[in-house]
Amino acid sequence: MTEAAHLTVDGTDGDYPVMAGTVGPEVIDIRKLYGATGRFTYDPGFTSTAACESKITYIDGDEGILLYRGYPIDQLAEQSSFLEVAHLLLNGSLPSTAEHADFSRNITRHTMIHEQLATFYRGFRRDAHPMAIMCGIVGAMAAFYHDSTDIHDPQQRVIASHRLIAKMPTLAAMAYKYSIGQPFLYPDNSLSFSANFLRMTFGVPAEPYVVDPIVEDAMEKLLILQADHEQNASTSTVRLAGSSGANPFACISAGIACLWGPAHGGANEAALNMLREIGTPDRIPEFIARAKNKDDPFRLMGFGHRVYKNYDPRAKVMAGVAKKVLDQLGIADPIFDVARELEQIALNDPYFIDKKLYPNVDFYSGVVMSAIGFPTSMFTVLFAISRTVGWIAQWTEMMEDPEQKIGRPRQLYTGATHRDYVPLSAR
Ligand code: ACO
Repeated sequence: MTEAAHLTVDGTDGDYPVMAGTVGPEVIDIRKLYGATGRFTYDPGFTSTAACESKITYIDGDEGILLYRGYPIDQLAEQSSFLEVAHLLLNGSLPSTAEHADFSRNITRHTMIHEQLATFYRGFRRDAHPMAIMCGIVGAMAAFYHDSTDIHDPQQRVIASHRLIAKMPTLAAMAYKYSIGQPFLYPDNSLSFSANFLRMTFGVPAEPYVVDPIVEDAMEKLLILQADHEQNASTSTVRLAGSSGANPFACISAGIACLWGPAHGGANEAALNMLREIGTPDRIPEFIARAKNKDDPFRLMGFGHRVYKNYDPRAKVMAGVAKKVLDQLGIADPIFDVARELEQIALNDPYFIDKKLYPNVDFYSGVVMSAIGFPTSMFTVLFAISRTVGWIAQWTEMMEDPEQKIGRPRQLYTGATHRDYVPLSAR
C-alpha cells in the first residue's frame, strides 16, 4: 500500500494519507488540503472523488464486476429473491430461514398505504408522468408517518425503511392505475413482492388475476439487478439530502427526482424509444453514423457508462431475461432483433471499441418491461421501486457513520468580482 501522497504547492511540501479499502483503488485523503494549502480540488462530476466509505456494493468497471456485499450480481439474479437481496443490502448478510421469514413478514405488513394518501392522486392530471407523481407522493409520506421520521432513533429508521420498501410497489401501481382510469387495487399479502406488484398493476377488481410465473421471475430479476449501484447520481443525491438531517421520505423523494433524468434511470425509456424509432435492422447503420457524428447530439441510448468500461454484468443477465420472456411468452417483438443486431454492430465498431462503450443494463431492461406489458412511462418507476432498497441501505450506512457530516462541495468561482449596486433609474 502507498504510505502517503506528496503534494508540493507554492514550494511547500505536504503529505496526504492514502487509505485502502478491501478491494479497489486506494484513495488519497485530502480533507486537510484546504487548511494546509488554501486550495480546493476541482472535480466536476466527481470523476476522481470518493465521497464516503461504504461496505455495500463494489464495482470494478474495467472488469465488468458488480458485487452486493461481496456476492456477484449474476449469482444473486439467478439464485436469490428480491427480498433476500433487500435483506442482504440492508443488513450485510444473506438471511437465515428465520430471518427471511421475519423480514418478509415485516415488509408484507407495511404494503398498505394510509387511505388518505390515495386521495392525493386525484390532484394530479391523468396524463401526469408517473415519476412526477412518485416524487410528490413519496415526499408526502413524511406527512403521514410521523412515528418514523426521527432519524436519530435507530428503530424509527428501520420502520421507515420497511415502510418505503413495502409501499413503493403500492404507490407505483396506483400511479399507473390512475393514468389509465382504473380503480386502485389493495395489496394481496399472500403473494410474493413481485407478484403482488404485478397484480396491483395489471389486475382489476372484477376478476381474479393469475400471476404468470415467467413474468414473476423476470420481475424479480429486474428488481435484483437494479437494487444498488454504489455512489451513482441518485444514491449520492439521497446521501446529500440525508446529510442535512432530512427525513428518509424526503431523501428518497430526492433520489426519485434524480433517477428520472435520461442520463440515469430514464435511459431505459430512452433506449426503448430509440429501438422503436430504429424499427428495423436495416436502419441501424444510419443511427450508428449519427451516434458517431460529433455535430449530432444523438447518442446510442443504453450504451456507455460512467463506471463500466466493459460489458455491464447486469446487461448480460438482462439480455438472457429478455430472450426468455419473449420466447416463453411467444412474443415476436422486432425490437429485440434490432437490439441484438445493434449490439453486435456497435461492439465491432472502432468508435465504440476505442471509447469502451458497451451496452448497459438499460439496453435490454426496456425490452423486458415492454414485453411484460408496462408502458415506457413506468420503466423508471420500476427502477425506483428496486433502487429504493439501495438508497435506504446507503442512507442507513451514512446515518450510522461517525464521520458523517453535511455534504458541502466547494467551487471554483469565475463570476463577477465586487461591484456596487446601481439604482434602476440610473441603469
Ligand atoms: N453513444 C455515442 N457516443 C457516446 C455514448 C453513446 N451512448 N456515450 C458516450 N459517448 C462518447 C461521448 O460522446 C464522448 O466522446 P468524446 O470523448 O469524443 O467527447 C465519450 O464517449 C465519453 O462520453 P462521456 O459522456 O464523457 O462519458 P460519461 O462517463 O460522462 O457518460 C453516460 C456516461 C452519461 C452514461 C454516457 O455514456 C451516455 O450518455 N450514455 C447514453 C445514456 C445511457 O444509456 N445512460 C444510462 C446509464 S446507466 C444507468 O443509469 C443505470
